This record gives sequence, C-alpha cells and structure tokens, in this order.
Amino acid sequence: TRVAVIGGGQNCEHEVSLSSAAAVAAALDARRHEVIALTIRPDGRWAGDDGVPLGATTAASLAAAVRVLGSCDVVLPVVHGRLGEDGTLAGLCALAGVPCAGSPLGAGALAMDKWATKLAAEAVGVTTARGRVVTAAEAPTVEFHRPVVVKPVSAGSSHGVSLARTAADLRGALAEALELDDRVLVEEVVHGREVDLAVAELPGGDLRISPPLEVLVDGGLFDTDTKYDGSARFLVPAPLTVAELGQLRAATERVYRALGCRGIARVDFFLTPSGPVLNEVNTMPGMTGESQVPRMFAADGWGYPALLDTWIEATLA
Ligand code: DAL
Ligand code: MG
Repeated sequence: TRVAVIGGGQNCEHEVSLSSAAAVAAALDARRHEVIALTIRPDGRWAGDDGVPLGATTAASLAAAVRVLGSCDVVLPVVHGRLGEDGTLAGLCALAGVPCAGSPLGAGALAMDKWATKLAAEAVGVTTARGRVVTAAEAPTVEFHRPVVVKPVSAGSSHGVSLARTAADLRGALAEALELDDRVLVEEVVHGREVDLAVAELPGGDLRISPPLEVLVDGGLFDTDTKYDGSARFLVPAPLTVAELGQLRAATERVYRALGCRGIARVDFFLTPSGPVLNEVNTMPGMTGESQVPRMFAADGWGYPALLDTWIEATLA
C-alpha cells in the first residue's frame, strides 16, 4: 500500500506532530508499505519529504498536496490539535475521496471540543468533572469559589491549561486559556489517579482496548512541561481492581462509540473513589515510540508495526 503520512500542522503541537509522524513513518513495515511523507508547516504551506513547500502559497501547496494524496491508497493524518485532529484532515480526505485512517470529521470535531465531549459523555452515562464553559465576553466578570482547572475548549498537550486556586489566579488562568481559544472550560478539580486507555478498531469494527496506563507525576499536574520533559512516568498496566478496570473499559467503549470515533483513540480518565471521571478523548493521540498508545499496546504484546497495519487494514476494510 502507498501510505501518505501527514505530520506537523499549524498549532502549538506542531513539534509533537512532527515526532509522531516520523515515528509512524519509521514503524511502518517497509515490506508492505511505501511511505509518502507530507508536512504541514507552521505557516500552513504543505511540504514534501525534503521540507520544501509544494507551492508558493498555502492554497497552491494544498492543491499540490491533494494531488499527492490522490495518488495514495490511504492517508495517516498524524497531526495533533486544531486543523488536523479536529476533523479537518479527515474532511479534506473525504472530499478528495481518499481513505483516511482514524476518526471522521464529526468525531474529530466533537472530541477536540472538550465542552461537546463532556455533553456527549454525560448523555451516555460517563461522568465528567463538574464545570461550565466561559466565553471571552463572560471572562471579566465570572467568579468561582473553589479551586478550578481552566483550559481552552480546543487545544492539546495541555497548552493553556492551569490550576486556579484563588480569584486572582483565575483572571490570569482565563487570560492564558483565552489566548488559545475564545471559549474556556472551567472545571472543578478532580482528585484521582490519571489513567488512560487506548482503543484500536479492528477490521470489521470490533474494538481492541489496551491495558490501562497510569500517569505518575511527582507532585502536580501532567502539564505541557511534564508531558515532554521526561519527568512523568507511565505505569503499564496500571494496577487496578477487576471492578475498576471493568468500569474504565465500559466507559471507554461507550464514549468512543458515542462520539463516532474510528481507528485509534486514547481516552483519558481520572480514577476517583467513586469511579472513573472522563478527562478527554484524543482522536489523534501522541504516536511517538515513547507515547502512551504504542506503549500501552506493546504491554499487551502488540508491537507498533502490527498496530499500524491494523489501523490501515481497518481503514480499508
Ligand atoms: N495531544 C497529545 C499529542 C496527546 O494526546 O498525546
Ligand atoms: Mg489531548
């Protein structure tokens, strides 16, 4: 198969997306796949393997990129965050008539919107943190009387996320989040263990759910720094009771299906004494060799190249 691997992108996760895409391209079994690497530069222009833009303008480079995509059997859209994971690349491929791995436009858009995810999850009985959406217009006057977590409705890798303990913290936290989005989610702090599960759709539509992974951060938030400075440790499989694991697996499958996800996704929870609380769904989770998803399936004896083969097979099935 001729496989287009798209990396990069035009948001704050550009570098992570480059790493994920490079890892995917390297892990694809060269005996089975021909890799065509495409990169979306921060300025929006698409480039080939050599980093040279495919056109002088964004539109011209996109037109050239679509021709390349059209020559491929399948697209792996390894771009985290906005203008990638949010369904835009899935939509582009749908318009171009090229099979695209992972979630379709609607699921990508829903999962990228943490407010919409919360509404959908609650509707199918999956608990989320209590919270509300705050718009830019409301931000100057809104008040909370408890510590809250403030995050952009749409962003990834914890960019713009902070913990506000006091009213003074709140103003700064809102301003920071509003730099990345014009809607902000303000949630009560959930005290629990951070546990993630990965999902891979198999050809035919059944789901394979990975062993649980626990994120261990020394004293604090699993934030942008600890995500990428190596100080967070992952424990796979997370030590859980049979009942806890059962609840997490059921919640994972329910929310994945309710959002209309396809292919690979990672569903992040806080495990509290009263059960799992959904944090978020990533429809294009980090895919470097060190990232959670490859490590979670590896713990189940499912290696990275085989996982990618299944991702492609499920797309083409
Ligand atoms: N948004 C980052 C890449 C993740 O979810 O892994
Ligand atoms: Mg995320």
